[in-house]
Amino acid sequence: MKKILVTGCLGQIGTELVTELRKRYGKDNVVASDIRKPEGNAIVEGGIFEIIDVLDKEKMLQVAKKYEVDTIVHLAALLSAVAEAKPQLAWNINMGGLVNALEVARELNCKFFTPSSIGAFGPDTPKDSTPQDTIQRPKTMYGVTKVSGELLCDYYHTKFGVDTRGVRFPGLISYVAPPGGGTTDYAVDIYYEALKNGKYTSYIDKGTYMDMMYMPDAINAIITLMEADASKLKHRNAFNITAMSFEPSEIAAEIKKHIPEFEIEFKPDPIRQAIANSWPNSIDCTCAKKEWGFKAEYDLAKMTKDMLEKLKEKEA
Ligand code: SER
Repeated sequence: MKKILVTGCLGQIGTELVTELRKRYGKDNVVASDIRKPEGNAIVEGGIFEIIDVLDKEKMLQVAKKYEVDTIVHLAALLSAVAEAKPQLAWNINMGGLVNALEVARELNCKFFTPSSIGAFGPDTPKDSTPQDTIQRPKTMYGVTKVSGELLCDYYHTKFGVDTRGVRFPGLISYVAPPGGGTTDYAVDIYYEALKNGKYTSYIDKGTYMDMMYMPDAINAIITLMEADASKLKHRNAFNITAMSFEPSEIAAEIKKHIPEFEIEFKPDPIRQAIANSWPNSIDCTCAKKEWGFKAEYDLAKMTKDMLEKLKEKEA
């Protein structure tokens, strides 16, 4: 990776990925892009920034050519809850954007990363220690686009030799940019509400386990996988990775250690609860560890301490 184009860079992942890439690879070697260009935004102001609507392939190609990028990190997509509300739009953006980005990568011989998700699994998938290679019959439009995306990336690798790589992200928790309409967002909201109001009403019911990861580990995972020796990769699209698995009462109990008066109550939202119920309790990431040395630094306790400290600083 020498010159990297990132799409959807103002989202939850992109905001932190671009910052880290600029630090590691130099700010003239990272081309940040999004469909909007808000004034005063730190990512927009902090280096190269271009407006790209991922449905406009010609514009994407033109920007990639202009900066002679050798790597594309394609992040622009709709998340699970939004995709369930607007399934046709989700198909258009998630698949249309992906095939455009893959075409640009093919034409310019770029390395390629795009995230898949625990949403690529469904109710028929083994729920505990979900293996890398297993049944993938998701029942959500988000999941349909993620499985299709994994297959499409594999196809571009075998058919055209594009160096495609990906991970199945669990719920990502962070304090810089908010997530945009996912099922796992409760595990981000809870920290904001704990500090602001000392209580949180969870739209995910108690006892619902899902995999999660703190953003610094997610950013490291992307960079480590992209820098990994290709000859070691038996899998490509996409690797199971996780840092922890918990249910809402457990994250609440951890927050209570820092904010003793914190209270959680439950009011499950039928749509997001159904999505969560169809996802694994915890996935197995042995292949990622073996093939490219995936490692997570943050567990629930370490993440909670850091989240609360950083959010307090941010809100101060
Ligand atoms: N965090 C995502 C979502 O909930 C999962 O990939 O949609």
